Amino acid sequence: MNPSPDTIAEHLNHYPELAEQAKDWRHHFATDALSGKVILITGAGDGLGAATAKTYASFGATVILLGKTREKLEAVNDWISKNTSTQPVIVPCDLETLDLETAGNLADSIGDAFGTLDGIVHHASRLGPRAPLAHYPNDEWQKVMQINVNAVFLLNHALFSLLDASNRACVIHTSSSVGREGRAYWGAYAASKFALEGLSQVLADETEVAGRIKVFSVNPGGTRTAMRRDAYPLEDPLSLPTPEARMELFLLLQSPVDEGGETVEFVTGQQLDCRDWQGNVQRA
Ligand SMILES: NC(=O)c1ccc[n+]([C@@H]2O[C@H](COP(=O)([O-])OP(=O)(O)OC[C@H]3O[C@@H](n4cnc5c(N)ncnc54)[C@H](OP(=O)(O)O)[C@@H]3O)[C@@H](O)[C@H]2O)c1
Repeated sequence: MNPSPDTIAEHLNHYPELAEQAKDWRHHFATDALSGKVILITGAGDGLGAATAKTYASFGATVILLGKTREKLEAVNDWISKNTSTQPVIVPCDLETLDLETAGNLADSIGDAFGTLDGIVHHASRLGPRAPLAHYPNDEWQKVMQINVNAVFLLNHALFSLLDASNRACVIHTSSSVGREGRAYWGAYAASKFALEGLSQVLADETEVAGRIKVFSVNPGGTRTAMRRDAYPLEDPLSLPTPEARMELFLLLQSPVDEGGETVEFVTGQQLDCRDWQGNVQRA
């Protein structure tokens, strides 16, 4: 039987921002729900990526923290080492320069250390300038596409065999509202998120029959992070939900819950939104 919300909140004593949210979760996760799983999180030094890493580690996952700024990764690494029973790995990596060889080296290191990979959450992203396409700087277009799309392809490509070696792997592509409906002045960021949605659907379709890798795209919706502040500098950050308020869905997708003695699995390829999933994910 899964623990009550109070037991989960108590388990999360070390992480009050998440414990506060967990009281209202619709699903009751075992406190070791992700134990034995190895999950790579990109953009893990900040915002949603840091919250995802801390959440997964709090439920027992070994997390691989990939991001640009080493100091930010070290801070998350130290927090996890101090507050959970797991030991993370940090991978400082500028996705702007990621190529097939570097991605392959990362896959070799993960393979040597763990043998398989049970999940990837692609949070790392570049916002780029807010400008009309007619004036959009070409160098920025290339950088945004490289970080938000090409790097995701390269990581999925290089890590595919390790994911396929897992009993159940899950790849989450973090999208955006402007990746589902284009909006003026969102330029390369919007186009890159549309491409990410396409990449997610293709990978989901290719892996559906074998059934070992589940693939989703998730739009977190407006969340209190540095990127949101850059996009909306006049907005009051306190009016927005915290990254921890978005974590139930990110946890559920990596760890299907046990309901009535049965593990509930989700239909792969779904396009989800943290704001309106209402606790329901279409079931297989
Ligand atoms: N916050 C929102 O309201 C919102 C809404 C919709 C979608 N999203 C999506 O949610 C995801 C997480 O964003 P966030 O809001 O949490 O933003 P954030 O706090 O600014 O985090 C973005 C992360 O991406 C990393 N990153 C950027 N460029 C990189 C590069 N070249 N190489 C490696 N890592 C790089 C950053 O690392 P450094 O800090 O080291 O640079 C940072 O950890 C993104 O995919 C974003 O598009 C956010």
